[in-house]
Amino acid sequence: MTDCFGIEVSEEEISRWNVLIGNDEWTQRWFVSMGSPYENVPVAPDEVFHLRIPVGDALNTKIIMEVGCGFGVHARNCLSYSDYYVGIDVAPICIAASSYLHRNISKAKFWHTVYDSEMISSLEGRVGGMFGVDFFYHQPFERLSPIVRFCHRMLHDGGWLSIDQIHGFEREGPPVGGMMGAAWDSFQEKRESLVQFLSSVGFSDVRVEESDFPWGQKLDFVICRK
Ligand SMILES: C[S@@+](CC[C@H](N)C(=O)[O-])C[C@H]1O[C@@H](n2cnc3c(N)ncnc32)[C@H](O)[C@@H]1O
Repeated sequence: MTDCFGIEVSEEEISRWNVLIGNDEWTQRWFVSMGSPYENVPVAPDEVFHLRIPVGDALNTKIIMEVGCGFGVHARNCLSYSDYYVGIDVAPICIAASSYLHRNISKAKFWHTVYDSEMISSLEGRVGGMFGVDFFYHQPFERLSPIVRFCHRMLHDGGWLSIDQIHGFEREGPPVGGMMGAAWDSFQEKRESLVQFLSSVGFSDVRVEESDFPWGQKLDFVICRK
């Protein structure tokens, strides 16, 4: 099966993400702390939203798309600025849960990267802003190119893209969580080469913002415009 990025995805990968995100200890604790699962709407605190999507006024745009949206915790924040929010994800549990949790906001849509890829493509050239939160660094490096090219196709001229990336992991052995398809440091690409790559795809105004990550690493945001 081919996803909206043009990447071959197996059923096994889809169910692996389903199990990982659905059984994640943090997810479970988070739902439990909110009361009964699926009755409370997850919303990121305002400061977290702005920290993780540091694009300022550029948020004011018609359509914002989040890549790897999880349970859509940024959907409502985005809709304070934009007319529509579209979250896409490979885990069917995320699409199902988000569609239910945010059912009262008709301007938020949650689409699956494989099963809804035609619907996603229908927005080609119409999206004003794209971002991923804790998404990009989970992907194997070979996926950077098709995902970034997909973002370029989806954006209209002047639209922005924000890529997050962790620096400073010192590891021995295989990537953390790699076996589960959730390596934390897959995209350990050098800043300079990432900036160069984005320019080669056709992005301009490429800039890097750095912030502190809770475990001592640095979190980079590489932000650019089509
Ligand atoms: C750590 S979660 C972050 C979720 C959300 N962005 C947030 O901040 O709460 C990473 C998400 O990326 C999704 N994901 C991983 N690989 C993906 C892929 N190849 N295509 C689409 N989504 C993917 C996972 O299913 C998961 O929901």
